[in-house]
Amino acid sequence: MINNGKFWMPDGLSTLAPTVDNLFYFVTWVSSILFAGVIIAMIYFAVRYRRRSAEDVPAPVEESKLLEISWIVIPTILVLITFNWGFKGFMRLNVSPPDSYEITVRAKQWLWEFEYPNGTIMTNELHVPVNRPVRLNMSSEDVIHSFFVPVFRVKMDVLPNRYTSVWFEATQVGEYDIFCTEYCGTSHSGMLAKVVVESQTDFNEWLQSGGGLEDLPLEELGEMLYRQQGCVACHSIDGTSIVGPSFQNLFGSQRTFQDGTTAVADENYIRQSILEPMAHIVQGYQPVMPASYGSLQERQLSALIAFIQQQQ
Ligand code: CUA
Repeated sequence: MINNGKFWMPDGLSTLAPTVDNLFYFVTWVSSILFAGVIIAMIYFAVRYRRRSAEDVPAPVEESKLLEISWIVIPTILVLITFNWGFKGFMRLNVSPPDSYEITVRAKQWLWEFEYPNGTIMTNELHVPVNRPVRLNMSSEDVIHSFFVPVFRVKMDVLPNRYTSVWFEATQVGEYDIFCTEYCGTSHSGMLAKVVVESQTDFNEWLQSGGGLEDLPLEELGEMLYRQQGCVACHSIDGTSIVGPSFQNLFGSQRTFQDGTTAVADENYIRQSILEPMAHIVQGYQPVMPASYGSLQERQLSALIAFIQQQQ
């Protein structure tokens, strides 16, 4: 119904979006009309019944039963409509259709991992078929995160030690933003992902190919992982220091650590720095890199090393 981005909202591209938007517009318009009515009446009465002279004595005011009943009954009806509408929408948002396609979501500082029923794992890229209900079963490996897709109008906290879920049915093929909307540490704002909505055929093909990553050249896979794994949030490739050292000219350089020791950044040094970030802390930096990259596969590690090697 409402399909295009407006002043208030981004595009609404899920079957749930109209429910959310229509209620939002209802509440906004009712509030605006009441607000305007109150302000206009207030200004009118202030001018019309102002005190004109020192002897001015107002006539006693008789109570109006009709007026009093109406300002009790009308707002009550409006509030009940809003509650009823909101509660139905809430139930719809929370109960996924039984035939939903299920994807497991893991959040960690500071990335999103999506695991498909056939074992394919993607980082920061969620592929879903269009026009089919998709249910995400979510959990966190560390702190509280929150999964938010503005165009689908869904948002749900992702907690450690507990599962939460969210469902949606995308109505339009395309690529849309996923945000983390719960402050979760240094790179919270960099905890971004994409949802790729595609036709069922394209989706099946993509899934069959294991995410299409097997035959990607190492450097290209490395660059992809650099973005997907969230390295990009802390390590620049243009020489700027963000949270961690830049990857520019890193490979082969002499590193000086906080304890005064040094080492040359070769393959083994980089490999260890990814897997055990606390092993060596480079001078001038804080020991803040999460130890969550231990799950990277050998090929992914080689790819990242190849990518870093390329940044000369
Ligand atoms: Cu994860 Cu904010």
